[in-house]
Amino acid sequence: MTREHDVRDDRVSLVEMGPRDGLQNEANTLSLVQRLELIQRLAESGLQRIEVGAFVSPKKVPQMADSAALFAALPRKGPTRYGALVPNLQGLQAALAARADEIGLFTACSDGFTRANIGISVEESLVRFAPLVQEARQLGIKVRGYLSTVIACPFDGPTRPKRVSAMAERLLDLGCHEISLGDTIGVGTPGTVAPMLDAVLHEIPAGRLAVHFHDTYGQGLANLLPALERGIRTIDCSVAGLGGCPYAPGASGNVASEEVVYLLHGLGMSTGVDLDKLAATGQWVSERLGRPNGSRVGQALHANAERLRARLCQPSPH
Ligand code: HMG
Ligand code: MG
Repeated sequence: MTREHDVRDDRVSLVEMGPRDGLQNEANTLSLVQRLELIQRLAESGLQRIEVGAFVSPKKVPQMADSAALFAALPRKGPTRYGALVPNLQGLQAALAARADEIGLFTACSDGFTRANIGISVEESLVRFAPLVQEARQLGIKVRGYLSTVIACPFDGPTRPKRVSAMAERLLDLGCHEISLGDTIGVGTPGTVAPMLDAVLHEIPAGRLAVHFHDTYGQGLANLLPALERGIRTIDCSVAGLGGCPYAPGASGNVASEEVVYLLHGLGMSTGVDLDKLAATGQWVSERLGRPNGSRVGQALHANAERLRARLCQPSPH
């Protein structure tokens, strides 16, 4: 396969979703102190973009309540930028008051999902977002546009690649600096992801795009390859594979951050992330949530660390 972009020798920017997309769909809720510790550990592992929380209705997503208190407690030293997900003006005002470094607005390619998620149609969401993007940009705050259901919608079925490119262009025209292309329910394979990316890249340069693959069918890592081959260098991922979307029935979390880092380092690409620290964080948060670690790489590194510990603890024969 001839590709314009070499997947080696490149730096990839990871956007850590665990504290937001991850925790929003976990049955057990972490305390504020635990959420803060999670974010601190992720930043210490080298992640430079972390989505901290969401200013959405706490009745709809109780796991994201107290995001304002979380932002207030964040350590603001170091290079990490902290983002917030926002659905409307009320959310934007709360995110600005919380001093979020970046705002994420979210809509989709399909009305079925958009209505289930935020109670309005896609067109209505664009009308709602236009003044929000302007307000944030006037304050010098970057706005990321999430575009969900780029492969298929849990309510409306498959999405045409041309629909994705048209929607991504409209979000850019509103003033978003980056579009995160979401396979919300994780049904894509490279066979459907590649044509979708080709359609979008026909209109938009790779540098303005991120990929946001949920791993429901175990295709998340495979789907990253066509994105990397096409020059996309921003990847959303979630430590320990936490989460999913409460309004996308059956969807599991984003592709695990540990898997993504392992893959990229294996390809000779750099992420700035310390995989051991990241994997220890994935194990830590899985234990706090009382769920199995959703990262195979995390499981393997944890098992290795346990074996080493057991060997070191064995009494000396002498
Ligand atoms: P609504 O009920 O239509 O809103 O919800 P409303 O304006 O009629 O207000 C109703 C109540 O909600 C009021 O409170 C408002 O104050 C409150 P009450 O008077 O009843 O006590 N409210 C809010 N509270 C806190 N923050 C706000 C806010 N706005 C209203 N910003 C709304 C509309 C959009 C708010 C609601 O549907 C909502 O919060 N939806 C959130 C859905 C969500 O968080 N989904 C998950 C994230 S999206 C995702 O995961 C996909 C993504 O990862 C990409 C991918 O995977 O594809 C990004
Ligand atoms: Mg998501």
